[in-house]
Amino acid sequence: MKKYLCLLTVVLFCLSSNSQKFDQLARTPPMGWNSWNKFHCDVSENLIMGIADAIVSSGMRDAGYEYVVIDDCWQVARDENGEIVVDLERFPHGMKFLSDYIHSKGLKFGIYSCAGTMTCQKRPGGLGHEYQDARTYARWGVDYLKYDWCNTSTQDAPSSYTTMRDALYTAGRPIVFSLCEWGSHKPWEWAGNVGHLWRTTGDISDSWNSMINIFNQQKDLARYAGPGKWNDPDMLEVGNGGMTTEEYKTHFSLWCMLASPLMAGNDIQNMTPETKSILLNKEIIALNQDTLGRQAVCYRDNIDYQIWFKALSNNEKAVCLLNKSDEKKSVLVDFALLAKSNAGRRGGPAMNLENYKVRDLWENKDLPLKETSIYVDLPPHAVKVYRFIKK
Ligand code: GAL
Repeated sequence: MKKYLCLLTVVLFCLSSNSQKFDQLARTPPMGWNSWNKFHCDVSENLIMGIADAIVSSGMRDAGYEYVVIDDCWQVARDENGEIVVDLERFPHGMKFLSDYIHSKGLKFGIYSCAGTMTCQKRPGGLGHEYQDARTYARWGVDYLKYDWCNTSTQDAPSSYTTMRDALYTAGRPIVFSLCEWGSHKPWEWAGNVGHLWRTTGDISDSWNSMINIFNQQKDLARYAGPGKWNDPDMLEVGNGGMTTEEYKTHFSLWCMLASPLMAGNDIQNMTPETKSILLNKEIIALNQDTLGRQAVCYRDNIDYQIWFKALSNNEKAVCLLNKSDEKKSVLVDFALLAKSNAGRRGGPAMNLENYKVRDLWENKDLPLKETSIYVDLPPHAVKVYRFIKK
């Protein structure tokens, strides 16, 4: 009897020890680059190596972008043992070589697969091969897995993603697990123990309407986010050409306020100075990477004009004024009132303006604030982002 109890304890221990995610990863929102938004299936070893070089030479690595993720289309088949086969025409030296190269640059390596029988581009999916693939990824030195939801037929989302989580954990290499089921099964309600981030909507496209519609859908999700578990409103379109510079500044600011993963999706090897200055705005990035890990909440909603609060560590907070309309707006902003308002507990502390200075994070300067209320001009589709910083 004693022997059986002992055995049972061991079995239960093994089961439970493999039934978790790696919990020390993505304590702040993951930052990096992903091939999909700009290159779709046109991925190759040359491209990915060039991107890794550019992440370093542009200063993006030093600004925090670390994961280089190859999205769909790197895989072509399974061999007779069920092993995933890399497209050797596009990746002639295989994935371990690319992974080593990316690591040698001080970056991390990410890859894409899918919970169904096939990926969205009809490449072999992970269904039934989860443990085998997880071992392969560990052998290749993968640090990040984006796992999609195409061709899943009647599969159950929580259990499909949990299987892959357990497979990754069993393979033993810490890998950030990014769920991409487009919010269809409310992953914010069940994925906190499954992955480190989960898509909340369908795909973003490179337009103001797409971006702002996705943003509008994040409003009620703030309470689900925190260190190690992030709502993912999809990758960035900054620099891809479909929005104005002002709109891209808004897109980037909103994603930083939301504590969203920051996966650049543009051609980093050919960036304009405007794109660079957006993706490399360190003071805006610092909001995103704040260790408190709070997603912004909406404090005032006048439909096309909104005010958002993001609580920060050290009893500080960020305030974002958003003009969604097509018209220029001039708004009277009372900074003393903004300081002491807290939009519920999640909006940060109620504070006395006297103890804080207010910094404009796109102008990169402190406001003189001779009066506590000032008129602020907002062009169409623009933001102002302020940080209340302790004096
Ligand atoms: C979609 C996913 C995109 C991209 C694409 C690749 O389902 O949302 O981000 O990964 O598949 O086929």
